[in-house]
Amino acid sequence: MIEARELTKRYGDLTAVDSVSFEIQRGEVVGFLGVNGAGKTTTMRMLTGFLPATDGTALIAGHDIFGEPLAARRAVGYLPEAPPLYPEMDVEGYLAYVAALKDVPRGARREAVERAVTRCGLSEVRRRVIGNLSKGFRQRVGLAQAIVHEPPVLILDEPTVGLDPTQIREIRSLIAELASPREGETQQAVILSTHILPEVEAICRRVILIHEGRKVVDGSVEALTSEYGTLDQMFARHTYAAEPTGAPAREGGAQT
Ligand SMILES: Nc1ncnc2c1ncn2[C@@H]1O[C@H](COP(=O)(O)OP(=O)(O)O)[C@@H](O)[C@H]1O
Ligand SMILES: [Mg+2]
Repeated sequence: MIEARELTKRYGDLTAVDSVSFEIQRGEVVGFLGVNGAGKTTTMRMLTGFLPATDGTALIAGHDIFGEPLAARRAVGYLPEAPPLYPEMDVEGYLAYVAALKDVPRGARREAVERAVTRCGLSEVRRRVIGNLSKGFRQRVGLAQAIVHEPPVLILDEPTVGLDPTQIREIRSLIAELASPREGETQQAVILSTHILPEVEAICRRVILIHEGRKVVDGSVEALTSEYGTLDQMFARHTYAAEPTGAPAREGGAQT
């Protein structure tokens, strides 16, 4: 469903993403890991078609992001780091607006909004103005706008950042459900970036780790855990310099 082929992004002398390739199938929830500045957001923005790649390409549901940009974009639901929510709109109105933007046919929009509201647990706030919602509910609205057109691919950039522990639990179980839907719902390929390792263990069965723009690990949580002991050790091994103290080699280590 998602196929990155040697995706590369350079900003002047800095290679933010360096020839990254991977494939993600329907039903997979992949944790995209890396310290701050590793290149996660840049990779995701290229996959969504919002940021042109310097080199390489990606296929989304079989559509090349350069050759068929509109079809590729339509197949993606994207939750950016800062979702473009319209604080003065109510939840339903906003979701209907996004559905229209995403080319959901007029006659199917009401049903699309209904489904997103139900799936994301927004029924009780559907007529509330977005600006007045708690951060947890706003994040659900962010997820709802990502899935309203039922895309086969979901790209979520740090979906639980800034939430309290209860909200984090709720959003995590929501994401897990999105990948294993009930009958009649679309099964999706999900990639989510995070640097919270328990989050990965809670919802992902596979991990891709990037460091300084390069893919350094790609494997199942199970295999990696048995190889390294814990995901934490796997992460440290590939992102810190091999010093006996285990001190972070670069500024802005894993916990920031
Ligand atoms: N528009 C930009 N111009 C120049 N450098 C950028 C730009 N966007 C990101 N970068 C750099 O690219 C690298 C990767 O950033 P990013 O993809 O945001 O990392 P992450 O999401 O993993 O924290 C960082 O060094 C960042 O400073
Ligand atoms: Mg980022």
